[in-house]
Amino acid sequence: MSAKIIAVVNQKGGAGKTTLAMLLAGSLAERGKRVLVADADAQNTAVHWAGMGTGFPAEVQDVSGEESKLHKALRKLTDAFDYIVIDSPPAATAPVTASALRAAHLALVPVIPSPLDLWASVRIREAIVLARHKNPQLEARLVVNQMQPNTLLAREVLGMLPEFGIPLLAANLKSRTAYRQCAALGGSIHSLGSRAALAVMEVDALRREVEELLRGR
Ligand SMILES: Nc1ncnc2c1ncn2[C@@H]1O[C@H](COP(=O)(O)OP(=O)(O)O)[C@@H](O)[C@H]1O
Ligand SMILES: [Mg+2]
Repeated sequence: MSAKIIAVVNQKGGAGKTTLAMLLAGSLAERGKRVLVADADAQNTAVHWAGMGTGFPAEVQDVSGEESKLHKALRKLTDAFDYIVIDSPPAATAPVTASALRAAHLALVPVIPSPLDLWASVRIREAIVLARHKNPQLEARLVVNQMQPNTLLAREVLGMLPEFGIPLLAANLKSRTAYRQCAALGGSIHSLGSRAALAVMEVDALRREVEELLRGR
């Protein structure tokens, strides 16, 4: 079966693209799926994450040099994996981002619930709309990251999201030190064991929702 391709994209640096890509890839791999993280950001943060230890359960490859040919390069890899998760640079109009969106079945856009971050994310919506000319089946979801529940700001910003034009994933990621820790240790969130039980539940819920979205694709 051919890999399902997920592109994690946003114009904004620090929104959580690498964190979301690695948590999702780690969770899928812990479930026994064959997973590739295609690191399309020249900063190679995903490659560094996996290089911090020996235990990251998914394969991570630097593909940042592929530029506008990324979608063609990934075509050669789709038989070897169940999922390919693309981590992308903070650049909505970069050729590699356009190529990632052309290859993807699903675009995930992590957003921090702050007006500044939302304004900066408008460009990625335009990039997704443009990508649908060549990839009409492309699905897209916003993923709230660094969620601080029960704050007025979170409520106000979440209220703005429907206007954004990309549906919201029900699952979100709260702000947790466990997510920074697993990057420092080079593992998946599962590798932290019982001290990260809530984080594991959160990531697994997100992974299940993504699997459900991609069922039959
Ligand atoms: N949910 C979260 N909880 C705690 N820290 C987070 C969370 N998401 C991201 N971070 C931290 O925020 C910073 C930016 O995240 P990162 O994934 O590198 O963003 P991007 O790839 O979009 O630039 C990193 O230091 C990361 O560890
Ligand atoms: Mg990154």
